[in-house]
Amino acid sequence: MIRKTFPSAITIFGAKGDLTKRKLIPALYNLYADNHLPSIFSIYCVDFLAVDETEYKGWLLEGINSFSRTGQANPEKWAAFSSRIHYVQGDFMKEETYATLKDRIKSFEDVEQQRGVRMFYFAVAPRFIEVIADSLCKQKLCNRDALDRIVVEKPFGTDLDSARKLNRYLTQRFKKKQIYHIDHYLGKEMVQNILAFRFANYVFEPLWNKKYIDHIEISVAEEVSVGTRGGYYDSSGALRDMIQNHLLQLLCIIAMDCPKAYEAEAIRDAKVKVLKSVRPLTAQSVFKDVVRGQYTAGEIAGKPQVGYTDEPQVAKGSATETFVAARLFIDNERWKGVPFFLRTGKCMPRQSSVIMIQFKDSPHKIFKDDVQPNQLIISIQPELEIGLMFEGKVPGLHMKLEPVEMDFMYKDDFKQSLPEAYEALLLDVLEGDATQFMRDDQIEAAWKLVMPILDAWKKSPKKQLNSYAAGTWGPKAASNLLKPFAKDWFKLMHENGVVEKMSEPEIKAQIVAAT
Ligand code: BG6
Repeated sequence: MIRKTFPSAITIFGAKGDLTKRKLIPALYNLYADNHLPSIFSIYCVDFLAVDETEYKGWLLEGINSFSRTGQANPEKWAAFSSRIHYVQGDFMKEETYATLKDRIKSFEDVEQQRGVRMFYFAVAPRFIEVIADSLCKQKLCNRDALDRIVVEKPFGTDLDSARKLNRYLTQRFKKKQIYHIDHYLGKEMVQNILAFRFANYVFEPLWNKKYIDHIEISVAEEVSVGTRGGYYDSSGALRDMIQNHLLQLLCIIAMDCPKAYEAEAIRDAKVKVLKSVRPLTAQSVFKDVVRGQYTAGEIAGKPQVGYTDEPQVAKGSATETFVAARLFIDNERWKGVPFFLRTGKCMPRQSSVIMIQFKDSPHKIFKDDVQPNQLIISIQPELEIGLMFEGKVPGLHMKLEPVEMDFMYKDDFKQSLPEAYEALLLDVLEGDATQFMRDDQIEAAWKLVMPILDAWKKSPKKQLNSYAAGTWGPKAASNLLKPFAKDWFKLMHENGVVEKMSEPEIKAQIVAAT
């Protein structure tokens, strides 16, 4: 825990942005309300627009009331919290903005008579990262490596070269330990729990390898469309937006070896090792091992949805993918020959982020209806759940088997409400803990892995660009990718955001279909 008396000056560049309103301020407010922030802190929100500070705070409050996990803000707590928020109007491109910011931060520290932590959060478009970094440096605003940190949001570069260039730029100005590359998936409760599950429960470790595991599916299905983000998304696509970061992070956590300690460098070393062991794709294998798709008009949860190329700010005839499925192999002793199937897409029937570990079938069967190889299911969202599917005896006079599930659900075992990913990660930054943040070499290794795909698609923009109707699970080619390991992607049964148990015959049908 941080010392409660340790003052913290928190600066958010991009004060008027969506991220600040929806995520950062609600997260800081919840940390404050739950007494996790240091007792002395100040928040400086910097942006170009001239806005009245009272109106600005009203806008932030709207954000908390609409998006915070805790619902409407408590009036007294909001009054106390918001008195620490200061709007600093300024152009990111002008030195005077940083000079003003410096004065504000220094007078805060002078009053407290203590030089505390300074956190600078870059919630800005990528084109501003370099100029802000440079100005912080020139103004000596972020020059004490034990106390001062910058937090950089993705996209971190648009390809390997640009990511390398940006890494070089930042590391010439700050110490590596001052740079926090945020991937909000690493702050998700269940994602963090995978580390606990794997490395605090030795029972699974002997099974966690090619001898017992047949294949692994990592799927992040989103119900949402690109909505108002067409401008950004059209030059990004699902590969850059989701696979290069969130899904490869999940792959690392599932596939990594036990690190020597629960400590930032050891964990990040183990993850980089995974990325470096993934078999590189080639110009030829891309069209065999990677499937892309783009949604067309359809219906999601009873509501009509326009096709991707009719979304605002999306180029007509755009070839940007809104869906990617990939088959990857990790060429090391633990995983040789085990396929890892990754899938993500927008406009799918419902939100569902699930990792399914399919164990091998038993080599020797003694029951005629023992048809189910075991499955370990880790549901990250919307439900947080870990389930192990196994064969059980149906009560009765005969030896009849049915698949059953041994289940751990957060909402049954833990009563406390779960922190948002940004709460956990912002507190980590204030505490100087980089364990759940990406390191520069990891970012580069992830880009290196996806570069053959980007290059192949750039060369043949529309080759094998499948379409899928909004509200479906993606193109058929994505199911074919699983063959011969499975017939279709694993599905949890969700209704209205609630996981419903599949009936036994449904489970059996799915397992039989998959094997
Ligand atoms: C973001 C992507 O990083 O993650 C979005 O830019 C995506 O396109 C989002 O919708 C998904 O995050 P979550 O937490 O809703 O699964």
